[in-house]
Amino acid sequence: MDTLSVELGSRSYPILIGAHLLARGRSEIAARIKARDVLVVSNTTVAALYAPALRAALPGRRVVEVVLPDGETHKTLDNVARILDVLVANRYGRDACVVALGGGVVGDMAGFAAACYQRGVAFVQVPTTLLAQVDSSVGGKTGVNHAAGKNLIGAFHQPAAVIADTSTLDTLPDRELRAGLAEVIKYGLICDLSFFEWLEQHIDALLARDASALAHAIRRSCELKAQIVARDEHEHGERAWLNFGHTFAHAIESATGYTSWLHGEAVGAGMLVAADMSRACGKLAATEVERIERLLARAKLPLDVRAIRAADALALMAMDKKVQAGRIRLVLLTQIGAACVTADYPDEALRATLAAHFG
Ligand code: NAD
Ligand code: GLY
Repeated sequence: MDTLSVELGSRSYPILIGAHLLARGRSEIAARIKARDVLVVSNTTVAALYAPALRAALPGRRVVEVVLPDGETHKTLDNVARILDVLVANRYGRDACVVALGGGVVGDMAGFAAACYQRGVAFVQVPTTLLAQVDSSVGGKTGVNHAAGKNLIGAFHQPAAVIADTSTLDTLPDRELRAGLAEVIKYGLICDLSFFEWLEQHIDALLARDASALAHAIRRSCELKAQIVARDEHEHGERAWLNFGHTFAHAIESATGYTSWLHGEAVGAGMLVAADMSRACGKLAATEVERIERLLARAKLPLDVRAIRAADALALMAMDKKVQAGRIRLVLLTQIGAACVTADYPDEALRATLAAHFG
């Protein structure tokens, strides 16, 4: 087992990464989930697979489960209200702990409920998708979607621990694994050229679920995210790099009703558009854009967004949380391994880039 730390002073917390943690790491889990009253939030798919093991790791505790419907379309305020109702109905107090067992959808909702309940109770992330293990479980962003846009409602609320059992990925569908790889590639693009090069060498092993390659990818992604979050918890600066490709991705997801594109897939396609926008602004060489496209394609990520109208994408991008004074700020690359956030780009470059990729 590897243990990393997100350094946030008195709110620092560990990220535990290892195989078979749910089955064999029960003392670790019991030590990290300290409360007597525990609310496990999961969904129909993941609860059936892993809730019994989590419950078995918490003997002597009062463990109540909320099992939500599966899918991004269910990442709503109504479902957060359901979680809160169960906390109230069981008279859980401020010393309770909410445990998110699942992917990013469950993690974001459980974390938001924990942030709101009695103005904040403890929560622990037990991520079971690659995307959640490398990204969403770390850093304390929680929330839900609104009809007008993705993740528009939420709060920063750091977990008390992240427990990533890499064996849970054994049951993850291949398409979900590939979606998680998009976020892994993101770290190489925004801040670590040598990790990007490692990914170029190991992408086939990752797709084949080679255990040591996956363990390295998860560990390095978590290290990089933990460092960025420690330096800029509330996204006043460099944390925005983690949104590379996301302004375009959120537009893709919103335009298609959160049904046809997985979040990670939309991020993959959005990163290609963002890389091309970086080129259109004179920041990134065309050969670098081609290199990025090659890796995304080798990761078998869908990159064709022509079914979405460019004008619709632009309108949806205006709802992005990075908009300031009505201007969309974009995360762009200055090279593979280095990013910047800027509102200073030619509108014509954005228009031409959208027209080149979208319909
Ligand atoms: P998800 O939570 O919908 O999970 C993907 C699918 O895999 C679901 O059908 C789920 O039931 C299933 N699943 C989960 N674990 C499984 C397992 N071990 N075996 C079999 N099936 C399993 O999607 P996701 O990709 O994990 O997360 C995407 C969400 O995360 C989006 O809503 C996105 O906005 C959010 N996100 C949040 C942050 C953050 O910092 N909070 C960062 C990135 C993404
Ligand atoms: N996934 C973006 C962030 O955590 O900041």
